[in-house]
Amino acid sequence: MGKGSLICIEGLDKSGKTTQSRLLVEALNSRGFNAIYTSEPSDGEVGKFIERYVLKRRRRIPVSIEALLFAADRIDHFERKIKPMLNEGKIVVSDRYVYSSLAYQGAAGLDISWIIEINRMVPKPDLAIYLDVPVEVVMERIMKKHGRSVMETFETQSRVREIYLSLVKRGDLLPVDGNRPIEEVSLDIQRIVFNKLKLLEAE
Ligand code: TYD
Repeated sequence: MGKGSLICIEGLDKSGKTTQSRLLVEALNSRGFNAIYTSEPSDGEVGKFIERYVLKRRRRIPVSIEALLFAADRIDHFERKIKPMLNEGKIVVSDRYVYSSLAYQGAAGLDISWIIEINRMVPKPDLAIYLDVPVEVVMERIMKKHGRSVMETFETQSRVREIYLSLVKRGDLLPVDGNRPIEEVSLDIQRIVFNKLKLLEAE
């Protein structure tokens, strides 16, 4: 990896990760860092295909195809956007990364070690944060919006949360309680990130 840092923010649908990722980028930039927001599925060709072919349909496609498409989009996202930004020394904040595939496609029954294998072409992030919000809370938000995606059912979100929590236990993800006022959650995330950046600078 270049001289920048890669931070990813993970969580259930409607857990507030997009808001928190953007607030983190603002906080970093106002402290003189050069941070940038990006997200997955990406805005590239594979990402756009995923929106249409995977998410916005009535039934889920075979989960192995989902995993391969998300992995392909991730390689495209990394090579096309993340890597060049890291090489410029930027702090890249990615709204979802490899852990989304472990959680969502793992929750659908796919072997986690195979998902890890097909994501081997992209590096691990420097820091991965999991925004924890109860399933009931995200479901209430999901029910209020138009057009739910294939992932946005109680059963799926519950299983996805279980996997995220197991990744926290394994030490892959750092948990943050996302079920609090936006500013409080944001300050917690900033504290974790600034501490980590200090450690990285000292290396
Ligand atoms: P996201 O864009 O975060 O949702 P929103 O439109 O609410 O901002 O993610 C879109 C969906 O894609 C989400 O349900 C999670 C799913 N997903 C996977 O299943 N696997 C993956 O690897 C990724 C990146 C996303």
